[in-house]
Amino acid sequence: MGDQVDTGSNPQPPDPGTTHDAAHRSCPVTREGDTWVLLGHAEVTAAANDPLTFSSATSQRRAIPNSLDGAEHLAFRKVVDRYLTNDRVAHEEPACRTTAAAIIDGLPRNETVETIEEIGIPFAVRTQSAWLGWPPDLEGALVEWVRDNHAATRSGDRTKTAEVAERFDRIIRQLMAARTDHAPTDVTSELMADTVDGRPLTDEEIVSILRNWTAGDLGSIAAAVGVIVHFLATNAEHQRALRALAEDGDHAALESAIEEILRIDDPFVSNRRVATAPVEIGAEHINSGDRVILNWAAANRDPQVFDDPDHYDPAANANQNLVFGTGPHACPGRVLTLMELRVILQELLTRTNWIDLAADQPAVREEPPQGDLKTVPVVLR
Ligand code: HEM
Repeated sequence: MGDQVDTGSNPQPPDPGTTHDAAHRSCPVTREGDTWVLLGHAEVTAAANDPLTFSSATSQRRAIPNSLDGAEHLAFRKVVDRYLTNDRVAHEEPACRTTAAAIIDGLPRNETVETIEEIGIPFAVRTQSAWLGWPPDLEGALVEWVRDNHAATRSGDRTKTAEVAERFDRIIRQLMAARTDHAPTDVTSELMADTVDGRPLTDEEIVSILRNWTAGDLGSIAAAVGVIVHFLATNAEHQRALRALAEDGDHAALESAIEEILRIDDPFVSNRRVATAPVEIGAEHINSGDRVILNWAAANRDPQVFDDPDHYDPAANANQNLVFGTGPHACPGRVLTLMELRVILQELLTRTNWIDLAADQPAVREEPPQGDLKTVPVVLR
């Protein structure tokens, strides 16, 4: 069970256990067990932009491109970026909109709907499957995988995480086996025929890239839908303003609103690094080999940068927003994510008259230190 969120009329601040609001007023770097946690905006930004000192190679398992450093990271990042260009994302938008509209139209009105389970997860899974060319009958297995992956990550149990990762590998390897002719008819086949540094990608590398897209995409998109809907349902003034932007079809304004809503209540809490050399940061001395967490959610609410972290101001806060990270590992899926979230938001707002929090079931958060929203029951009018 997570902590409960009360249901007042203002945007609900995220759990202080997640963002360490109180802690980073006095202390931008803390220690939890044997791990350093960077909370301050300046400290998180500095570490993310210094990959020589703060390496991403934090585990034995090679994750492409997430766990790579230096030239190897750059080479694989070029491969990944090829699939996430503005043109490719624009090409996905009509199918994404059809999926979003069908989900919203299929939901009851004036009854409780659980946003993450009934909107976020099916939307993320169907959109991702369409992008990658995966069959619709895989939906059940993927939905189950998103849930189990989320639970395993939260548990911190490495055996569980490895089991879930292996299950995903088996799903992907079956899909790859079905594409024996390597004809590049969809993103998965195209990736199977792709190269890095002039040589073909290995099966291991293809599976890893697909796993990271899926792990990054499905859980985060579903959680982000929960955050956005929670924000609308707790804030009538902004819901009205966003309804007007959706009616006008103002894509740029809707996307910057989404980034700002996610800054206030960041569903993608943190990433890991390991120090490669002794370093001073936030008046603390970190030794070579020490583990370090970059807490994006905390940095996004640092009062040194955002006077009132709950104050919603997309234009003023855009340049300091760390929802998609910063530095060489900054999210390559940002354009795709913003398109997908804008489309589901547009369809949700234009196909309903209003969204309220459910009166009988409060929203629930994950336990700290994550503290992101776990369930968001709402009523569509
Ligand atoms: C709400 C949605 C998302 C959020 C908030 C988010 C956030 C982030 C952040 C903060 C990072 C930086 C990680 C680091 O510095 O270690 C990152 C990296 C990454 N993201 Fe996303 N992401 C989202 C969706 C996606 C999507 C849709 C995809 C792909 C289809 C994706 C793929 C990746 C990959 C592959 C990396 C690693 C990049 C690298 O190591 O160079 N993400 N994401």
